[in-house]
Amino acid sequence: MSDNTALVMTSPRSPFSVAVVPHPHPGPDQVVVRARAVAVNPFDRLIQTAGDIMTPFLRYPAVVGIDVAGEVTAIGADVTRFQLGDRVVGFAAGTDKTRNQAGEGAFQTFVVLLEHMTSPIPPSLSFEDAAVLPLGLATAASALFQSDYLALHAPSARAEARGQTLLVWGGSTSVGTNAVQLAVAAGYDVIATASPHNFALMRTLGATAVFDYRDPGVVHDVVSALRGRTAAGAIAIGPGSASPCIDILGASQGNRFVAMATPAASFDQVRAGRGHRRSLVPAIVRMAAGSVSLALRARRNKVVAKMIWGSTLVSNAVGPMIFQDFLPSALAQGRYAAAPRAEIVGTGLAAIPTALERQRRGVSATKLVVRV
Ligand SMILES: NC(=O)c1ccc[n+]([C@@H]2O[C@H](COP(=O)([O-])OP(=O)(O)OC[C@H]3O[C@@H](n4cnc5c(N)ncnc54)[C@H](OP(=O)(O)O)[C@@H]3O)[C@@H](O)[C@H]2O)c1
Repeated sequence: MSDNTALVMTSPRSPFSVAVVPHPHPGPDQVVVRARAVAVNPFDRLIQTAGDIMTPFLRYPAVVGIDVAGEVTAIGADVTRFQLGDRVVGFAAGTDKTRNQAGEGAFQTFVVLLEHMTSPIPPSLSFEDAAVLPLGLATAASALFQSDYLALHAPSARAEARGQTLLVWGGSTSVGTNAVQLAVAAGYDVIATASPHNFALMRTLGATAVFDYRDPGVVHDVVSALRGRTAAGAIAIGPGSASPCIDILGASQGNRFVAMATPAASFDQVRAGRGHRRSLVPAIVRMAAGSVSLALRARRNKVVAKMIWGSTLVSNAVGPMIFQDFLPSALAQGRYAAAPRAEIVGTGLAAIPTALERQRRGVSATKLVVRV
């Protein structure tokens, strides 16, 4: 019998259940990792409740989950960067359209990872702390570095000062804490927004100025802070984040481009079981109306606003640029923090659904992690 177990969805919108699944084998450019810690993301639970809209391509039975840290147990024929037993963190790409493989989902004991989406971690970094990184880092990197998004210069150990300022709206989110650090590592100044209790964190990660996104005067204050500076654009994270970013860039000098992490309306209240259609239809209507309203606002302000899909870097140069060229030495040399902080909320794959529900209720500058 296989020694691999997974948190499985047998069909669209089915409940999660722990089941024995085949022990995976790596392709030529892949490694297999014995998972020791996984982190949960809004996307993982949205696949269950709103997968018909977000991931209609997904094959079932499906294994979701993106953030995983563990030890390498098998190596593909073409892999050169890893050896058996290496401690790593990786972006499990199984739910990306280009992969669509249950064996590549994070929520299982043995996970297949692409070599170029995997990084070694230093002895000082625990599996639990490392597991917070992959999707937040990947989404931020997709926004900042892809050529059809903000197209910023690459991060490095010795980036020159660019003389430009990036706006990170929602800086204390998983995506935001990584966007702040990546932008700073690439030589940009950062203005962030967060709740006041996270201002100190934002400064520790490298933001030069921080504003409260709930303050009614925040748009005016950020425009004032950008006066005399050249904007590198904005990454808009969190509900309602795109509108203020469009207004701010519309009133500032520089790159008038907003990379949006959060869609115009939330699918958080959509149910997987009974009442699915009744909760999905209003969400779709709100999404359509919100998207039209944002498009009109962007056009009025002569700003481009474009949604990010956090796994697109799997198939372009940004994936290896981050997980292969930047992250390993940045972590080893203490130049990059595993952020936001990990909160361990359970042990075993069966603890993941509770962690996902807790994530839905909201966290602040925290990533919920389950030991495997
Ligand atoms: N497009 C993609 O591919 C992709 C990928 C990953 C995530 N996302 C989306 O990005 C967003 C963040 O995800 P995450 O996992 O990084 O979130 P998260 O860490 O779970 O978000 C928690 C944080 O959200 C902040 N927040 C709450 N309401 C906000 C608002 N109105 N404006 C700005 N910040 C707000 C809170 O900040 P304070 O505590 O400081 O108030 C808190 O720290 C979600 O909407 C998620 O669906 C998209």
